[in-house]
Amino acid sequence: MEFRKAKTSDAEKIHALVNEYAKQGLMLPRAVSQLYENIRDFTVAEDQGRFVGAGALHVFWEDLAEVRTMAVDPAYQRKGVGRQIVDHLLEDGAELGIKKVFTLTYQPEFFASCGFQLEDKNNMPQKVWTDCINCPKFLNCDEICMARMIG
Ligand SMILES: CC(C)(COP(=O)(O)OP(=O)(O)OC[C@H]1O[C@@H](n2cnc3c(N)ncnc32)[C@H](O)[C@@H]1OP(=O)(O)O)[C@@H](O)C(=O)NCCC(=O)NCCS
Repeated sequence: MEFRKAKTSDAEKIHALVNEYAKQGLMLPRAVSQLYENIRDFTVAEDQGRFVGAGALHVFWEDLAEVRTMAVDPAYQRKGVGRQIVDHLLEDGAELGIKKVFTLTYQPEFFASCGFQLEDKNNMPQKVWTDCINCPKFLNCDEICMARMIG
């Protein structure tokens, strides 16, 4: 298994996987343009050149970032791929000077296994919610907020 920073040529593969999960209500849908614009946030997992998963770290402030858009191919789940993607994202964040990483998720057990703990949404700064304005669940957000310190 290889982990590397994403290239623009990965965007369509990430888009297909994320939107397949979005159809199942497991994650929020993403436009492919959003993925191109944020492609530098992404780490990709490959098995002998085959795309098997991805996740992103999005910086919000000097010391604050979000792990988002985590998706692993169904055939590769529960093999540690997701956790290793998160490890790479946290290493990236530590190098950038990030101290706190949060996530908004429907998969709290997975993030707990990556060292995240439940966090009160009200503790997060307002800036974090700017992307939510375009979310279909804006007024009825049911995602669970979790966070951990790094570095
Ligand atoms: C969530 C997801 C990214 C996890 O990736 P993964 O590669 O399967 O996760 P890992 O194998 O690294 O799991 C690490 C640990 O997390 C926990 N975990 C992972 N998925 C879990 C699940 N569905 N239910 C309960 N615990 C889970 C387990 O403790 C697991 O360790 P174990 O297998 O030794 O018990 C993947 O299941 C996925 O793509 N799901 C669909 C999309 C999605 O829900 N994305 C998250 C959006 S917030």
